[in-house]
Amino acid sequence: MVNPWSGFRFNCGQSIDNRFMLAPMTTDASEQGGFISDHEVEYLRRRAQCGYGALISACAYVHEDGLSWHGVGASDDKHLDSLRIMADAMSSGGSRTILQIYDGGRIALPALVGAEKLRAPSPVPSLRPGALTPREMRSDEIEDLVSRFADAALRAKRAGFSGVEVHGANHYLVHQFISARSNKRTDHWGGDDDRRMNFPVAVMQAIRKAAGNAFIVGIRISPFEFESGGITLDYSARVCDRLAALPIDYIHLSLDNYRTNSPMREDRNWNVAEPETAASNANPIQTISRAVAGRCAVVASGSIRTSADAEGALIAGADLAAVGRAALIDPEWLIKLKRKEEHLLATKFPNGADEIASQLTVPPRMVDYLLSRPRWIPREGVQ
Ligand SMILES: Cc1cc2nc3c(=O)[nH]c(=O)nc-3n(C[C@H](O)[C@H](O)[C@H](O)COP(=O)(O)O)c2cc1C
Repeated sequence: MVNPWSGFRFNCGQSIDNRFMLAPMTTDASEQGGFISDHEVEYLRRRAQCGYGALISACAYVHEDGLSWHGVGASDDKHLDSLRIMADAMSSGGSRTILQIYDGGRIALPALVGAEKLRAPSPVPSLRPGALTPREMRSDEIEDLVSRFADAALRAKRAGFSGVEVHGANHYLVHQFISARSNKRTDHWGGDDDRRMNFPVAVMQAIRKAAGNAFIVGIRISPFEFESGGITLDYSARVCDRLAALPIDYIHLSLDNYRTNSPMREDRNWNVAEPETAASNANPIQTISRAVAGRCAVVASGSIRTSADAEGALIAGADLAAVGRAALIDPEWLIKLKRKEEHLLATKFPNGADEIASQLTVPPRMVDYLLSRPRWIPREGVQ
């Protein structure tokens, strides 16, 4: 078995000290205009002291019409100083730093971008309650967006990040291009299984060209969808086979729970406990690792809470394990793992919003949005 505390070298030549990564987590707490807030800097700096091999940031937008959150921007040179502050905080404990970059497409927030600005591969609304129908993107807009991803990656490099991760998971724009449910195009960017891969492929190629060979370049995907007609594990294996043939460093699997392999519904209601839905028997980590066949790293995520969980993900075939909620709930999560003090890990938020913000260094606005989805993070005193 691969020891999660052993080092790892990416294809680009950069190395990390261990196999743990902080998963990308949006704070919804940035300043107007896409600038990092002081609360976010404190939140990152505390978690950066724990010794993760790499930290992945909250997703940063590459185009002002694609915002799904009050998050940081990487769409313009005006964001460079904010990105530098972010990279400094994230690297303050010696970890590699990865900026996640995204566009919301049809799940951009009308309140942030204006309803008339919503655009997507095809005019198909998301299944989220109240979703509006986006307009179909023109091919010149698609080409422009490919360049925007590359420009954002170059900005990340100039700001001092070690790499970027393209957010191709969780129903954001890149995912919308991959899924036959949201991509009904018949041109170069859609129409059959191969052409629906063209957008992520073009984005990854453009980023590598812009940022050079020594920059970490990864992509995050959701390896299956709950809804029929959507992404299947078999199709994802083919997507990853094609992506792994490119000069990229890793493919990150966004899973709810790496053990149960259950796809999440697009219209998942975070306010109620949903029964886990059965997926195919195939283990997604194993299936994707086989398809990738060592050509780049595979990162697994989803309910990794203990050393045994991280080891389980590596045994299934992942090279690296990313942890999200466990590191929100216990900012010193990795330090406790390293000291073999798992009995001291906090496993729930304290009950009060002020305690969460002050004791755990979570931006108050992030606390508000987390508490608005009561089933997302376990909390003392809440069943
Ligand atoms: C508060 C919060 C914000 C998140 N924001 C992002 C994000 O910006 N990009 C992303 O790819 N995933 C995001 N996720 C998903 C996590 O990266 C992770 O995949 C998910 O929480 C499951 O892993 P976990 O069980 O370790 O938390 C977010 C999750 C949480 C809890």
